[in-house]
Amino acid sequence: MAGRIVAVVSQKGGAGKTTVVMQMAGGLAEQGRSFSIADLDPQESALRWSELAAAAGTGIPVAEGVDGKDAGDRLRAMAGGRGLVLADCPPSIEHPNTLAALEVADLVLVPVVPSPTDLWSTRAVEKLILQVQARRKSLKAFLLPNRVLRTRLAGEIVDFLHEFSLPVAGAALAQRNAFAESALVGGSVFQLGRAADSAQEEVRGLVKALLKELETKKK
Ligand SMILES: Nc1ncnc2c1ncn2[C@@H]1O[C@H](COP(=O)(O)OP(=O)(O)OP(=O)(O)O)[C@@H](O)[C@H]1O
Ligand SMILES: [Mg+2]
Repeated sequence: MAGRIVAVVSQKGGAGKTTVVMQMAGGLAEQGRSFSIADLDPQESALRWSELAAAAGTGIPVAEGVDGKDAGDRLRAMAGGRGLVLADCPPSIEHPNTLAALEVADLVLVPVVPSPTDLWSTRAVEKLILQVQARRKSLKAFLLPNRVLRTRLAGEIVDFLHEFSLPVAGAALAQRNAFAESALVGGSVFQLGRAADSAQEEVRGLVKALLKELETKKK
């Protein structure tokens, strides 16, 4: 696989960008894959979370803070010839770091909590991504349902995601305490043992879907 950059982007804070990045990191580490994490968010949540995870011996590397004018070049350098970079972005599509990440990414994931306000703010993210895709034809982008409640209402809202122009990822994360708790224990759901079985399965599904998309060209 050539060098690949995966950017996790949303307009609304709290959609789950950092959680998605760190759980994917745990899933990749579980498989013994090498990868790096770039933290483009000045809040530095991925940096702090990854410091705990690395210290706990999870195989998750400490994130690199990436910020400023050369953010895009830094991401490219991190990906190098064959590396995989997970890039956690700030909660704004106007932030220069988000825009820089979109210019160099191979794939964008947009976590969306199935609630009306998240859906509204996702329209703006979608518009920006479609504009970038008009210039960068190879850029893949997916909506990733996050914090999905297993109720009828959530099911209807996930169905509604199909009305967006961006495709919905072939994976989703449910609302689970394990995703939040794993930050406290210093790692991902793979550090929580059997109690987090279902969460681990969801993350494996997400990593599998991600790697498959990175290995195939856009149709
Ligand atoms: N699938 C989930 N199940 C339960 N809790 C979740 C899930 N995803 C995220 N959370 C919780 O939601 C909160 C926000 O998540 P997170 O920090 O990952 O979002 P973010 O998009 O990175 O936020 P910000 O925009 O502030 O960087 C956290 O408390 C996190 O633990
Ligand atoms: Mg975050």
